[in-house]
Amino acid sequence: MASGELTTTFTIGDRVVHRLGYGTMQLTGPGVWGPPADPAGAVAVLRRAAELGVDLFDTADSYGPYVAEELLREALHPYDGLTIATKAGLLRTGPRVWVPCGRPEYLRQECEMSLRRLGVERIDLFQLHRVDATVPADEQFGLLAELQAEGKVGAVGLSEVSVDQIEAAQAVVDVATVQNRYNLLDRASDDVLRYCTEQGIGFLPWHPVASGRLAEPGGPVAEAAERFGVTPPAVAVAWLLQRSSVMLPIPGTSSVAHLEENLRAATLRLDLETVEKLDAAA
Ligand SMILES: NC(=O)c1ccc[n+]([C@@H]2O[C@H](COP(=O)([O-])OP(=O)(O)OC[C@H]3O[C@@H](n4cnc5c(N)ncnc54)[C@H](OP(=O)(O)O)[C@@H]3O)[C@@H](O)[C@H]2O)c1
Repeated sequence: MASGELTTTFTIGDRVVHRLGYGTMQLTGPGVWGPPADPAGAVAVLRRAAELGVDLFDTADSYGPYVAEELLREALHPYDGLTIATKAGLLRTGPRVWVPCGRPEYLRQECEMSLRRLGVERIDLFQLHRVDATVPADEQFGLLAELQAEGKVGAVGLSEVSVDQIEAAQAVVDVATVQNRYNLLDRASDDVLRYCTEQGIGFLPWHPVASGRLAEPGGPVAEAAERFGVTPPAVAVAWLLQRSSVMLPIPGTSSVAHLEENLRAATLRLDLETVEKLDAAA
């Protein structure tokens, strides 16, 4: 990535990453199930991302399941200078089926298996994919703390959590990141983003390129895209980057062309008027 304000870095545990990462979910088969139709294409996207300076890769045991982690290993092992973030806590019993499972013994098994699949001795960032409502939350957070104390995990993250849940986790383990759905159209996690910003917790917004009707001709995203000579997804990601210094978008794509478009957000500086229009649009 070219240098510039939006390529500033963020520290996750003992790793320093550029603020614009890449999410691997789109590299699996339909319904995030099974291998991709074009495995060589998936490997090419991952390698191109690293070549362009992306150094934060988000994945999960459940993407495939296991497919995305295996692709990451094939494409990028031994991950020189890269930070790999994975997750555990969702069972996959079929395409589009995601079932929370936070039993400590299961989370431990998945951590062990991610270590093996990724081919690492320590997972840079290990995220609890969902807090399982059927298991005491402290048992789930406690297991994350144990894995960290054992050196199997560098930093710990949470996903799809409320401020109350983050606070409960912080009483048990150091929370480095939170990953909630957040984009131009969906700001339901604004309170969580505010809390993360105050606490210096990294915020990984998933589904970051969504801008729907705002990208239609005449809409504020389309207007900005035209003015800056980029595509609407790049505007959506640039808006995120400017919203908070803890924002770490991980746009996902299975296409090298889309990847390159999205990375233009790293050097796109939206002026105040544009930001205000986009703020007001949703
Ligand atoms: N924590 C969680 O619960 C959770 C849930 C979902 C996702 N995630 C993570 O967040 C990452 C990003 O989320 P996401 O994949 O759901 O959403 P996203 O990155 O916002 O969007 C992905 C979709 O947008 C398309 N796209 C991307 N760039 C584009 C471009 N420049 N032009 C046109 N279409 C474009 C992709 O299709 P193409 O492949 O055709 O480009 C794909 O259909 C995932 O990869 C995953 O790592 C986390």
